[in-house]
Amino acid sequence: MSKQINIGLFGFGCVGQGLWKILEQRKPAGISIKKICVKNPMKPRPLPTEYFTFNPDDLLSDDSIDVIVELIDDAHAAFAILKEALKKGKHVVTANKKMLAENLEEIIRLQKKHNRSVLYEAAVCGSIPVIRTLEEYYAHEDIVSLEGIFNGSTNYILTRVLEEKLTYTEALREAQQLGFAEANPLLDVEGIDPQYKLSIALLHAHGLLVRPEDIPVSGISRIGSEEAEFARQHRFALKLVVRALRRENQVSAWVLPQFVSSAHQLAGIRHEFNAVQLTGNFAGRQLLTGKGAGSLPTALAVFSDIVSLQNDYRYNYRKLATSTGLHFSNDVVVTAWIWFDGNRAAAWQVFRRVMGGYAHAEGQVIIGEIVLGHLAALLADKHVRVVLFPDDCEINLLPATGSGALHEAAVA
Ligand code: HSE
Repeated sequence: MSKQINIGLFGFGCVGQGLWKILEQRKPAGISIKKICVKNPMKPRPLPTEYFTFNPDDLLSDDSIDVIVELIDDAHAAFAILKEALKKGKHVVTANKKMLAENLEEIIRLQKKHNRSVLYEAAVCGSIPVIRTLEEYYAHEDIVSLEGIFNGSTNYILTRVLEEKLTYTEALREAQQLGFAEANPLLDVEGIDPQYKLSIALLHAHGLLVRPEDIPVSGISRIGSEEAEFARQHRFALKLVVRALRRENQVSAWVLPQFVSSAHQLAGIRHEFNAVQLTGNFAGRQLLTGKGAGSLPTALAVFSDIVSLQNDYRYNYRKLATSTGLHFSNDVVVTAWIWFDGNRAAAWQVFRRVMGGYAHAEGQVIIGEIVLGHLAALLADKHVRVVLFPDDCEINLLPATGSGALHEAAVA
């Protein structure tokens, strides 16, 4: 007999409605939605009004509700719901990356204190079971490298603009219409959303609690036609890549645009697909890929978490518990293509080794090795544009042509 789970659902947007559809189709034994709490009483809803309430307390104080599924946009309100739900003895399933990334340590503590579970597979890479894989399968494996595409909207935009010749504005609008983008799409295009996701993944991959803002980031909004042209000339794909790289006891991480060799597995990840390439000491290299955004793919991950609560599943945070002796640091050397506006003679000094460069009417490009922490400091200047090179790339320095932002790019 399956354990009975009565759900109190917060939010009925893209993912909430996807969850409803999955429950309608699958009709899982013992699982049902009891009530849905939404914010806006004026908004037309696809279900009869008796399903809805506007009062969070109708869910949180209902003793017959066992699990709160939190799928709202507001991270602050989501954290308040999570805390109250745990206090009232309910498990929580959430997809709120910002809320999780900003409160991981406290959420671990609260789960222990209240002896309840918080599950969040949907928060990282949509339908790809990345958290469960890191948590269970890789619990006893050292992950040397985690490399991936963790944002569906930006991968969709890059594919539509660079390969399918849409304008940036058109591609972004499509990503919004298809339900991939955040309510504030700046979180996608500035790389903040994958920064949150990487912070969560670092906990399960390495047992490290890293604040999202400590991970160097640059999104796709800065990418211009020069880097797109450089990629084309050198037969690179251009992707927004998340990375966590382990060297002995040090882990470094970043979210940055990267030239990707055509033979690399990430080069073929297009549209809203995400991917996680894991390299472990024993397993070698593995690739997980699937839809990273969208109503049903994301709702499936939420559904899977709910079902696993029927068996009292909880994360053990094994790597955190075993205290692996790892530390987080930006003291690692990367190879980067860096655009500086205007002609800045001093720009060269920040590189550990300069491998080449070329001038433009509006700026200059320098290619070379640079310490990640120095690169992160450069990114404070909004006019600096950075694209990393692949680890093992032979750099042949053809000059790029053209000028302008990706928004204006008509890449040949
Ligand atoms: N805006 C996110 C993305 C949604 O595009 O990947 C899924 O987390």
